[in-house]
Formats: sequence, structure tokens, C-alpha cells
Amino acid sequence: MSAHLGGSSLTRVKSTVKTALNRTPTAKAFAYVANDFTRGWKQRLGHIQSESGSTHRNLGVEESVRYVEDVFNDYIVYGSLDEVRGTAAEVGPGDNAGVALLLRAAGCEAVDLVDRFRSRRDAEQQRRIYLTLAARHGLPTATLRDEDLPGITWRFGSSAEAYFARQARQAPGGCYDLIVSRATLEHLYDPLGAIKSMTACLKPGGRMLHKVDFRDHGMFTPAQPELTYLRYPAWLHRQMTQRSGRPNRVLLHQYRELAEQLSSAGELTTQILVTSLVGEKEIVPHIPYTGLFPDPALQRAVARVEAGRARMAREFAQVSSQELAVTGIFWVSLRPNPVQSSMAATRPTRAGSGARIARG
Ligand SMILES: C[S@@+](CC[C@H](N)C(=O)[O-])C[C@H]1O[C@@H](n2cnc3c(N)ncnc32)[C@H](O)[C@@H]1O
Repeated sequence: MSAHLGGSSLTRVKSTVKTALNRTPTAKAFAYVANDFTRGWKQRLGHIQSESGSTHRNLGVEESVRYVEDVFNDYIVYGSLDEVRGTAAEVGPGDNAGVALLLRAAGCEAVDLVDRFRSRRDAEQQRRIYLTLAARHGLPTATLRDEDLPGITWRFGSSAEAYFARQARQAPGGCYDLIVSRATLEHLYDPLGAIKSMTACLKPGGRMLHKVDFRDHGMFTPAQPELTYLRYPAWLHRQMTQRSGRPNRVLLHQYRELAEQLSSAGELTTQILVTSLVGEKEIVPHIPYTGLFPDPALQRAVARVEAGRARMAREFAQVSSQELAVTGIFWVSLRPNPVQSSMAATRPTRAGSGARIARG
């Protein structure tokens, strides 16, 4: 009885603290700093369990399968993948290897799943998702457990930043034909550094595809307006996020600058597609940044940015409102192959005709 009362008092205290923090975002920011620091210590002691990638825990099997197929289709379509082959890496797969299974079914010989954390999962639910995918895509069903999916290797406990830097040193000519991620680069503590290392890991002619969501993932929303997370200076934002994998707030202007740098160095040809804008629904199909300009949705998003500008950290003063209005991108790039025709290097946005899954 008293244990029960103790439990419910604790729940009440937690809920009161949560309500108070939701009302005062700066207090919440400092609570994140404390939590991030604690998470860093836990990681040093070897605790790499996380909920952040447990996408499938609260989904039914059909919903999970649909999610996996949609992610795979996006790679095929936006990446213009006429064929899928060789060795691939998926960064931040979270709790499920479904996308890797479909990459294998489409022609990849091996897929590495690189994740800093180990997302909590339910083995039985995983098995049901894999069984359904196997039935729908004609995959062998002999081994459908996370630990022994043929050709698929989980690489937990190493950040993408560290993993690809190491691979680039060990195999300077590149070791991957394809590197993909969904909803992950925004969680890296150094996504731009990781992209540079991933570029070095791509074989000539290799492709890299990342869907990135710049929003605050509920750090301050929905209790506070969408742009609240832009109020804090970069050093403080970093202290809230770098150890725990909360969103890093690396935004469009920084990705564009990196794309230009890599392109001028002749290392990577990139097209950045826009997937979402402040306060608007997702843009489907995703479109190039420059294609946004006549769009009334962009005008509305820019007006929202301008209304919030007075409260933004100083570092955003030089960034255009159009760029700040973009809240998500699809990064599509190709490592030039000097021995292939230069035509190939200009193709990244043509819709792929490869192994796309049709919706029945
Ligand atoms: C929001 S989840 C996305 C999971 C999955 N891709 C999906 O679409 O459901 C982000 C993933 O990134 C992983 N992650 C966070 N920081 C990382 C890092 N520095 N390097 C590699 N993976 C990281 C998390 O563990 C998690 O699996």
C-alpha cells in the first residue's frame, strides 16, 4: 500500500516538474545539459542501450513493414538507384534491420548497420516483421533473428563519426558502394565531419543518401513554438545534445556549404532536396531548394522565421530566412568515378527504376 502511494507521489512530482520545465524553456535547456552529462558517463561505463531508435516498438507489424518499404523506396527513387549491388552501410538503423534485408534482396552482397547505441527491441516482434517482409519479398526464412541475418552485420557501440573515420584510414580507396540513413544524421554530434569520412569511404561511383530532419524532436515543442530551439547559443545547444544523441541543430546552410566544398574538391557531387518547411506539412515529392522559390508555402514559412528572429541566437543573424525556413532535407550524392563517363555524375535526381516496391 505504502509502496503504491510512494509510486504515485513520485509520478505526481515528475509530472509537476515536467509541466514547470515545459513552461520555462531555459530551465529545460539546463535540465538537458545535466541529463546529457549523465548519459555521457553511462556510455563511458558501457551502457549503450537507448530508446531513440526504437521506432518499431510501438508499431504494429503491418505499419512497421510499410515504414521499412517506404524508407527503402525513398532510397531507390531519390537516389536514382537503377541497380543495388556491392557493400552498403546503413547509419543509425535503430531497432530493425528491415531496410538492410530489402537492400540484400535487391542485390547488395553485404550490409553493415552502424549505430552508436543499441536501441531496445522485442525479439519476437522483430521476427514477425522479418517474416512478413520475407513473405512479401520472397526472402529465405531460415534465419530471421537479428543476430544471424545472412550478410547483415550489426556494428553497435561505435559512433558513425568514429566508425567511418577508422574505415577511411583502413581502406583509403573506399569500401562502400552505398551509404544510407534515415532520421539519423540529425542525432550525430558531428554530422558534417561524418559526411566527410563517409565520402572517403565511398568507392568511385558510390552513392550516399541521407534523410535529415532538422526539427527539435520534442525537446521544446509542442509546449513551446517550433523555433524555440534556435534561441540558445551553439555551445549551450551542444552541451544539451552531444552525448545523448539529441538533435544537433546542424542546419541547411551548413549542409549546403559542405556540399559546395566537396564538389569544388571534386570529391562528391551532391543535390540537396527539401523535405519540409517551418509549420508546413511534408513536401512530397521532395524538391531542390532552388525549386521552392515561387511556392506560397515557403513564403508562409519565411514569415514564421521572421516573426521568431528577434529571439534567435546571434549566430543565425547572417543566415537567410529562406534557409532557416527549411526543416528537413534529403541529401543525394555521388562519388565521381574518373573512369566512367562524366554523364553519370550528373544524374543523381532522376527517379530510379531499380528495385522499387510497388504498393498493392
Ligand atoms: C531516430 S533513430 C532512427 C532509426 C531508424 N533509422 C528509423 O528510421 O527508424 C536515430 C538513430 O541514430 C542512432 N545514432 C545516434 N547518434 C549516432 C551516432 N553518432 N552514430 C551512429 N548512430 C547514431 C541512434 O542510436 C538511433 O538508432
